[in-house]
Amino acid sequence: MVRMSQPAASLSAERLVHAPSTGDEWWRRSVIYQVYPRSFRDSTGDGMGDLPGITAELHHIADLGVDAVWLSPFFRSPQKDAGYDVSDYCDVDPMFGTLDDFDALIAEGDRLGLKIIVDLVPNHCSDAHPLFQAALAAAPGSPERELFHFRDGRGEDGAEPPNNWQSHFGGPAWTRTTDDEGAPGQWYLHLFDSSQPDFNWDSDAVRAEFERILRFWLDRGAGGFRVDVAHALIKEPGLPDWGGRPDGRSIEGFPFSDAPMFGRAAVHDVFRSWRELVEEYDGERILCGEANAHPVETMADWVRPDEMHQTFNFDYLGAAWGAESFRSVVERSLAAFDAVGAPTTWVLSNHDITRHSTRFGLGMTGRVNEGGKLSDLVADEDLGLRRARAASLFTLALPGGVYLYQGEELGLPDFLDLPDEFRQDPTFFRTGGERVGRDGCRVPLPWVAGAPGLGFSTRPGGPGHDDAGTPTSSAWLPQPGNWDRYARDVQAGDPASTLELYRNGLAVRAERGLGLGGLAWLAADAGSADDVTAYRNGRTVVVLNSGDAPTALPAGSLLLESVPGAVDADGRLAPDAAVWLDVEH
Ligand code: NOJ
Repeated sequence: MVRMSQPAASLSAERLVHAPSTGDEWWRRSVIYQVYPRSFRDSTGDGMGDLPGITAELHHIADLGVDAVWLSPFFRSPQKDAGYDVSDYCDVDPMFGTLDDFDALIAEGDRLGLKIIVDLVPNHCSDAHPLFQAALAAAPGSPERELFHFRDGRGEDGAEPPNNWQSHFGGPAWTRTTDDEGAPGQWYLHLFDSSQPDFNWDSDAVRAEFERILRFWLDRGAGGFRVDVAHALIKEPGLPDWGGRPDGRSIEGFPFSDAPMFGRAAVHDVFRSWRELVEEYDGERILCGEANAHPVETMADWVRPDEMHQTFNFDYLGAAWGAESFRSVVERSLAAFDAVGAPTTWVLSNHDITRHSTRFGLGMTGRVNEGGKLSDLVADEDLGLRRARAASLFTLALPGGVYLYQGEELGLPDFLDLPDEFRQDPTFFRTGGERVGRDGCRVPLPWVAGAPGLGFSTRPGGPGHDDAGTPTSSAWLPQPGNWDRYARDVQAGDPASTLELYRNGLAVRAERGLGLGGLAWLAADAGSADDVTAYRNGRTVVVLNSGDAPTALPAGSLLLESVPGAVDADGRLAPDAAVWLDVEH
């Protein structure tokens, strides 16, 4: 091990902000890897990832050193929102396989010691769901319509939507129904696409139906649920107009806790009943909420002791690159979650957000949500990757749970120049292309450099057009032309690769019990406080330098550096880099 230079006095004073965990349940320190089934691995050669493809490659995820896999939706669905529009919650969509394939995936997970967490979508279903079809066929005021939010319109002939709410994907949050003769009728609410009607969670029948669904997957061996849009299930009675941004978001794009469609107190009763339900099962099954509430203090409401086990930390996901930005959100997050006795989770990327290697390479500040228009910006891919690796190393030693999004361990950027003709995200269509949507972070994984489809699929054909002018690709979304460098086979075994950085980081995290550890800040020079941040978790010190000059390091042995040569001959940490040091107490 390299011995570091003399201690920098400036990094010695400590301030403890988080004590080691007193509970040792797995979900207090878990590393959970998000698989996006469409884009993980195609076993059938149809250009679409599938469950057998995941099962066949699951050992790669286990090798990385994670505890569980969260699968984005694979249920029967018309795929208007990439599976977040479910038409049968208790079956596998044929494009992803069968229930037997799911059982095989669970069995392989058991063999490898990986829990399999399922994505539950309770806020809305698909308009093709039999319950919604029955509601459309039934009369206003009928029990069938009670399962959703049907209302008469306002204005003359009810031609105006019942309130001013807007869809997350753009356009009104209401669509008017027509009867068989085409006569206009009531409107129904959809916070997302018009193909995703919102359930009415004041209905006991809806609650009973979801308990059945939870049990269905728990009985099949699911390790728990990631709960989609957990903050929005209950709406303010009367569905009043909202005087803020009509999609209920704050200026920064976060769902606003005061808006009538988010964070209503009664929503917590739903999760209390689910907590009791999952606790009937063995094996510490978990609930993780996509409770996209802001600020982080309100997010902690979803993980009070009798509610969910975890919730995604969206403030961390939205943090701009930089020492001060990270330090402040870490400190506030730990305080908020400690106050309710829950672990904090740390998330840098997912399937809804521009990947962090691109965000940090674009010099973006603040939250980049769901595919804001980035095509005019020029990303510095190398700088983005360098910063992403530093941010990941900074993250992997934090106490609490970590979520990884498939491909971040390869350092993948977004496909910013994805041609519009390939786009599938409803956001693109509902905003007339003004918001390009999230396809850029959903591109299929590169497995084998130089192989057709980079080994993701055996379907022939690069990005192009057929004789009829229809866009073609070997996968459902094409991959950028320069992705050989990111392929898994190129990175495996190369100590300088992003993949090995993640593998080593996760191994050291486990060995040292960092997930259950504490956090003390080391004070930086007043002059460099915005650029350098450092914390200690047990014997491990983490230093991040986001400034433009090298910085001195405290005494210790070098454990990991975010890029080779991050520490120079004088023992100083280079800009846009991070290290882990072993220090003696
Ligand atoms: C959040 C999911 O992560 C996103 O992909 C989806 O479009 C919306 N919820 C609606 O289900």
